[in-house]
Amino acid sequence: MNEIPIIDLKKQYESIQAELDEALKRVFAKGIYILGDEVSAFEDEFAKYCNASYGVGVASGTDALTLSLLSCDVKTGDEVIAPSHTAVATISAIEMTGAKPVLVDIDIQRYTLDPSQVEKAISKNTKAIIPVHLYGCPADLNPILEMARQKKIFVIEDCAQAHGAKYQGQRAGSHADIAAFSFYPTKNLGAFGDGGMIITNDSSLAERAKLLRQYGWKNRYVSQIKGMNSRLDELHAAMLRVKLKYLDAWNQRRRGVANLYLKLLSETELILPMQPQDCEHIFHQFVICHPKRDALKDFLYQKGIHTLIHYPVPVHLQPAYKNLGYAKGSLPNTEKVADKILSLPMYPELTEEQVEFVANTIMSF
Ligand SMILES: Cc1ncc(COP(=O)(O)O)c(C=O)c1O
Repeated sequence: MNEIPIIDLKKQYESIQAELDEALKRVFAKGIYILGDEVSAFEDEFAKYCNASYGVGVASGTDALTLSLLSCDVKTGDEVIAPSHTAVATISAIEMTGAKPVLVDIDIQRYTLDPSQVEKAISKNTKAIIPVHLYGCPADLNPILEMARQKKIFVIEDCAQAHGAKYQGQRAGSHADIAAFSFYPTKNLGAFGDGGMIITNDSSLAERAKLLRQYGWKNRYVSQIKGMNSRLDELHAAMLRVKLKYLDAWNQRRRGVANLYLKLLSETELILPMQPQDCEHIFHQFVICHPKRDALKDFLYQKGIHTLIHYPVPVHLQPAYKNLGYAKGSLPNTEKVADKILSLPMYPELTEEQVEFVANTIMSF
């Protein structure tokens, strides 16, 4: 058996190469590279795919979060509640606005924000809450949305890992006030470089996000508000439009891979990912828990199987975030999983034979 990478982007490109190359040629022939027809068409198409009214293309998922927060007028003096078990980007976006991240613990089975912990963390300064749909599994949004509505707090969905996932029958990104997506190449819908999008049903938030992504311009060269430069490129938009047509089929295939892993590993003592009944998990990652995680990781590597850890050090224990003042032991579920989690190879092009090889190798360990 050849090496099994954690993801294989070359295979995906090869499967739709002719269409992608055609899209690139189309952009080169037009000679328009910034905020042209491709970006606006993709904004409409992706927003519609997410059952939302507006899409605003930006330069990355981190920027999508930052600009979503700024659109909600989050600023210095405000607090924003988020999980510590997330990509550091979620927290760095909060800090970019000057607000204080308030980090809370996760539901240990779902790996997403625990609504009861959110409730305890709400203060008079709470301006927003960011549930992260980690690994492609939607966070339990309803209790969070209910609390937030009562207290007039914004909810921003971090959908960087949840393109196409569903919570109670409706796509991730369409439930809260505003949502942020990443098109980092390894995401379920990935560009060929950095990219991101803000999705919302609120016309005034969409309008503000549009101004903020380009210097606050309503008309060229005249800033209505202070903004920045964070635009999605035409080239990326053209290629993402091609890939969007395949997203459901690719997610379906990921679910097939996940179900095969679940079946083959069901007799082991591993903790396997849950699929909440009211959700459609899109398995951006397939994450298992093992008490001897590091030894298992090394063993798999020796057999040619590549794995990753999402994420090895919770944000509240990272050197850069010491100033937030969380001691070791303060978020027990988060810390418990960080030592045990392991992400197995997961992508639509994985063959049944490869999945069986990974599962058998784990069992031989
Ligand atoms: C949960 C989460 N939020 C935010 C981001 C940031 O996205 P980007 O890398 O496009 O800035 C990522 C991607 O790494 C992510 O996984």
